[in-house]
Amino acid sequence: MGTFILAIDQGTTSTRSLVFAADRSVVASAQQEFAQHYPADGWVEHDAEDIWRDTLATARGALDKAGLAAADIAAIGITNQRETVVLWDRATGEPLHKAIVWQDRRTAATCAELHAAGHEALVQARTGLLLDPYFSATKLAWLLDAIPGARARAERGELAFGTIDTFLLWRLTEGRSHKTDVTNASRTLLFDIHAQRWCPELLDLFRVPAAVLPEVCDSAADFGTTTLLGGEIPILGMAGDQQAALVGQSCFAPGQAKITYGTGGFMLLNTGDRPVTSAARLLTTVAYRIDGVTHYALEGSLFVAGAAIKWLRDGLGIIVEARQTQEMAARLPDNGGVYMVPAFVGLGAPHWCTEARGMLTGLTFDSGPAHIARAALESVAFQTADLVAAMQRDGAGALATLRVDGGMAANDWFCQFLADILNIVVERPANLETTALGAAMLAGHRSGAWTGVLDSVAEQGGLSRFAPRLAEAERSRLVAEWQAAIRRATLT
Ligand code: G3P
Repeated sequence: MGTFILAIDQGTTSTRSLVFAADRSVVASAQQEFAQHYPADGWVEHDAEDIWRDTLATARGALDKAGLAAADIAAIGITNQRETVVLWDRATGEPLHKAIVWQDRRTAATCAELHAAGHEALVQARTGLLLDPYFSATKLAWLLDAIPGARARAERGELAFGTIDTFLLWRLTEGRSHKTDVTNASRTLLFDIHAQRWCPELLDLFRVPAAVLPEVCDSAADFGTTTLLGGEIPILGMAGDQQAALVGQSCFAPGQAKITYGTGGFMLLNTGDRPVTSAARLLTTVAYRIDGVTHYALEGSLFVAGAAIKWLRDGLGIIVEARQTQEMAARLPDNGGVYMVPAFVGLGAPHWCTEARGMLTGLTFDSGPAHIARAALESVAFQTADLVAAMQRDGAGALATLRVDGGMAANDWFCQFLADILNIVVERPANLETTALGAAMLAGHRSGAWTGVLDSVAEQGGLSRFAPRLAEAERSRLVAEWQAAIRRATLT
């Protein structure tokens, strides 16, 4: 058996496969972007067949580039965009509908009704989540209602539900394995994170038949074996992408936190074996379960981070590539009083304001593209500060450092501004592929080919550190001006 691990990282806008060596270096990778479907205002869908096609192609491509065969691969780890819902026919493996993506808001009215009927307390107590269309349950119920005959077929056990991890596992194992891991299960609104099982009361509340559900496993477990990559390879690791990044950043000790900046931004704080119930509208979620031991996390989700930079490029046309924002922001002596509230799709944690919309404030005739670019970068740091403050209100204590990864973490100006606004040290690993690495570490651990990778002492080298250097008075002034902008954006 080889010691290489193949990680499949199925994200919201692209599907990637990476081969890691046992020293955690990336040997080869392949990536494919895929189509986003927006069939109605606020609706976002993916074609699960596109996702499957790209998964197979990139996995084969990464192995080819690495010059490796199936026998060289000790195991596969899968990590994925979370909450996105696929419903398929168990007999044929064919999806009945396009996948409904985590960003999709079509079930907002259902969530509002359940909220008005007083169900949020039960939901939060069992799942650690809130009644928001972001999560899987109302999307799955929508599919069961909207597709003729689906509900009856689901009740007869003919249909299977899965988040993307489960769907890919089903396809990789040619229908032999219908499983998920506990981190993905914890994002569905159907899973009791304390009892660690699907919750009958919630299945009733959301009208989901138990027959559609996958088996829930540890994040490092025997998920199945694929023979589609030129030989038998076991699938031994699985975690939602944000939890995988927590693992990839080696945040194993309570009090350690990371934030990943992709389309959105997701901050997870490891709270150890203690599920902290948030009073500040953060989420309690499973960080990972390894060898039967569960670690929990507090999570704050920003719906827009890198997407704001993409808007500068594709919407406004004031940049050609994201990295220009670094030089544009750095060339200004200050932000000129310009603030962006990037509430393009409402606001996530801790505001959870579906109706809020994006806003630029403080514009004068002196304001130009650089101010807007800087305001976009600053807005992501300010939103992160709001999450850190919410975590502190929930009793998290002062963070020693915050680890960053994802696309925006490559921007030095942004990392320095983030450190300044948070007033803590920001740490960035040399290898920003922490999500895929986390999945590889889980699979490597389970295979026995990688030892000691899940020990908190075995951290990655090559961290860049950004220390805060802004005077406190200036920091407070900037935060106060941001808070004023947020208040205006949430006055709906
Ligand atoms: O909860 C949604 C999250 O898992 C999506 O992550 O990186 O695909 O945007 P990403």
